[in-house]
Amino acid sequence: MDRVPNRWYAALTCDEVPHGRPVGFERLGEPLVLWREPSGAVRCAVDRCPHRGAALSIGRLTDGALACPYHGFRFDGSGACTAIPAHPRAPIPSRMRLDIRPVREAHGFIWMWSGPGPAPDGAIPFFDFAGYTFAGSAFQERWDTHYARVVENELDFAHLPFVHHNTIGRGYPTEVEVEVELAGDHLQVWQPRDPAVRLEVIGPNLWRMPLGPKLFNFIAFAPVSDEAVVLYLRTYQRIVTWRPAARLIGLVNRLTNPVVLAQDARTVPSQRPRVPILTSGEVYVASDQGVVAFHRWRQQAKRAAEAGG
Ligand code: FES
Ligand SMILES: [Fe+2]
Repeated sequence: MDRVPNRWYAALTCDEVPHGRPVGFERLGEPLVLWREPSGAVRCAVDRCPHRGAALSIGRLTDGALACPYHGFRFDGSGACTAIPAHPRAPIPSRMRLDIRPVREAHGFIWMWSGPGPAPDGAIPFFDFAGYTFAGSAFQERWDTHYARVVENELDFAHLPFVHHNTIGRGYPTEVEVEVELAGDHLQVWQPRDPAVRLEVIGPNLWRMPLGPKLFNFIAFAPVSDEAVVLYLRTYQRIVTWRPAARLIGLVNRLTNPVVLAQDARTVPSQRPRVPILTSGEVYVASDQGVVAFHRWRQQAKRAAEAGG
């Protein structure tokens, strides 16, 4: 699927991959199986047994190994086949290997490396939430469009008085002037009349927006395919430190946000083509500068990967 090469994508939450059994998800355009090793380390592979193509996600974990439901072949976390029950004394063919996808856990998410280069060891880029706590109340929703369409929407001030005319956009001025700043993978978009309200993206798929001086809305847009995305919405706050109060703030935010998102969910999945690219002929205007900056950044990252960078 269309993706930004050589980046970490927030793809799932850690609690979506339990201990003790494999699970199946579609992400980055592929059916995947995820499971945890006895140490708790999460592993990910294409959800297709190299023997005869059965889905490993409906298999089980046996003695710490992923066992195929069809003929019981077993695989370790590196993707190597460790047992073929039908031929216990025969050598294992070297091609009997899983197609492993690099994954890491951080900030409560499972991250997938988009390749084609090798996954780096360094810290995964994330917003600086120093002093803030994740209120522990999350909301997730699947939309039928490419994730970059939803990122566009979250960098767009001009839609507020139209899409959200009776909620967050009530009385919002229709005339828009935007400033844009890009530093590495970090994009910021704001209006000069209200510079504190910055819409921020860390490419490829993280977004946040302040709701006042002590609260952030955060969304990770996990790419399922060119035609589907899962939004993971969270609240980060530094209003209170007492955990039950923090949870209450998260809960209020969690209950109000879906109303606003449901308004976006009417228009954004209607956009064609689903995968936005700069050359698709859309007629941008000045208020789209944040959107254009995001797509230029995607385009440059693709070119850098093609050039081997
Ligand atoms: S298809 Fe998986 S073991 Fe045969
Ligand atoms: Fe919106």
